[in-house]
Amino acid sequence: MESFESHQASSSEMRAFTWLVLLVQLLGLSGVIMVAVWMGHFRGGFAWQSNPDLEFNYHPLFMVIGMIFLYGDAILAYRVFRNDNKLYIKILHACLHVSALIFASVGLKAVFDSHNLAKDPKPNLYSLHSWLGLTTVILFSSQWVIGFVSFLWPKVGMGLRRRLMPYHVFFGVAILCFACATCLMGITEKAIWSMPKDYSKKPAEGILANCLGLILVAVVTLIVYLVSRFEYKRPPSPEEEHLQISDE
Ligand code: HEM
Repeated sequence: MESFESHQASSSEMRAFTWLVLLVQLLGLSGVIMVAVWMGHFRGGFAWQSNPDLEFNYHPLFMVIGMIFLYGDAILAYRVFRNDNKLYIKILHACLHVSALIFASVGLKAVFDSHNLAKDPKPNLYSLHSWLGLTTVILFSSQWVIGFVSFLWPKVGMGLRRRLMPYHVFFGVAILCFACATCLMGITEKAIWSMPKDYSKKPAEGILANCLGLILVAVVTLIVYLVSRFEYKRPPSPEEEHLQISDE
């Protein structure tokens, strides 16, 4: 059996952890600012249903805030506060998920409105981006409901929680990767359609869109790295350790 003591992070590993978490925040915020500048400055700004073209611009902004930045932080909460009261962290984790879901829902409403309310309405759900995007949001919502019932509902026993946890962690990380892939496709579609003649000439808008994509890849890669390192995991509570021993 692998003991937690033998895998406790050394002080240099803890320093690296802190710097990497700060880097994720910095890159995540840069991504949010870049998508806001892209839509706000290069694509005409934001409006709600009065102007469907400008309503679209909320879509990328809210999807990046919700499905990358807030969702990424929800995943990291367990690692960052791993020595604090577990119930508080569970509540923080669940609240960050809910905020992510609210942003994602408004972002989706914006894109559907922008198609349906346009003078010449556009078809819905034809692209790979939209198919993977919808799958991602459905999986994300299901993961939230299953996670809420399994880990916050007091009647569910520790044994079942322990068995479900690896699946919860796996799907949590997989869904974040799907969100990243969806964003990359959305960014590419938007860049090509907005600059049909100029994208290949490397205009400022095109460079900004490409850098945004690279930053999202960096954020998600760092989060996957931090989540997969054993040293940064939360040590099991005495109750969980007891269960582990009696299972063997
Ligand atoms: C995880 C994040 C995202 C999800 C879940 C998502 C989901 C969707 C969905 C479901 C649609 C279809 C709407 C309809 O058919 O009426 C759509 C459309 C679109 N999205 Fe996203 N999106 C995400 C991020 C982005 C980003 C970052 C961009 C960047 C600009 C973007 C650009 C577009 C574009 C251009 C369309 C219209 C064309 C199409 O239907 O493919 N999306 N998105």
